[in-house]
Amino acid sequence: MIKITIDGREFEAPAGSTVLEAAMENGVPIPNLCYHPMVESYGACRLCLVEVERGGRRRVVVSCLYPVEEGLSVLTDTPEVVQTRKIIAELLLARCPENAAVRETAASLGVTATRFTRQDDQCILCGLCVRACEEIVGVGAITLSQRGTEREMTTPFRTRSSACIGCATCVTICPTNCIKLEEIEPASSVHQHAHPDDRTACRLCGEYEMEPIFYELSEPPREEGEAI
Ligand code: FES
Repeated sequence: MIKITIDGREFEAPAGSTVLEAAMENGVPIPNLCYHPMVESYGACRLCLVEVERGGRRRVVVSCLYPVEEGLSVLTDTPEVVQTRKIIAELLLARCPENAAVRETAASLGVTATRFTRQDDQCILCGLCVRACEEIVGVGAITLSQRGTEREMTTPFRTRSSACIGCATCVTICPTNCIKLEEIEPASSVHQHAHPDDRTACRLCGEYEMEPIFYELSEPPREEGEAI
């Protein structure tokens, strides 16, 4: 076990765990949207920032990626951390101003309005759905594509995916509830991004989908061959 202090209190954490995991395990609240214990951390939402101190030197780090180290001192609510989190919350609120989870998280940090240009999205591009599809389900039916303002969650090549098994893991794990599960008529496919034939069985249970399940992603799929 590794000994660390969080906000002046001593804790022990398993070697290999992260600062966020150590804090959560010991009931120390650190805001986060894109952490999930079942998948590799990616550090996308940046809300879990903390300050760490070693050798008299302090720096702000992403706690879901920062591993615990013997003697590490972690500070979760310094003025710099609080201020930086508020700016990040404003940016998320600008991207998803009507999303309940984003609004709630921002409000918990004292942010109810944003100075940045408002968009009309529901997805914070944390990639949790993508990681879950790859790491838990093992099929990789969806991905994050493009860069910068064009970045989006979609299927590889934006074509119908033959890999999707209709398990709804992406729907369940999405922290902003932006992937909807609903029936889409006519019922010819399990997923509006899925291909009706040649689906891959689940790596865990070996089954294909039990019942026809239909997802609707935040953006409609493009037709095959349509310009990107
Ligand atoms: S939880 Fe660490 S960056 Fe989102």
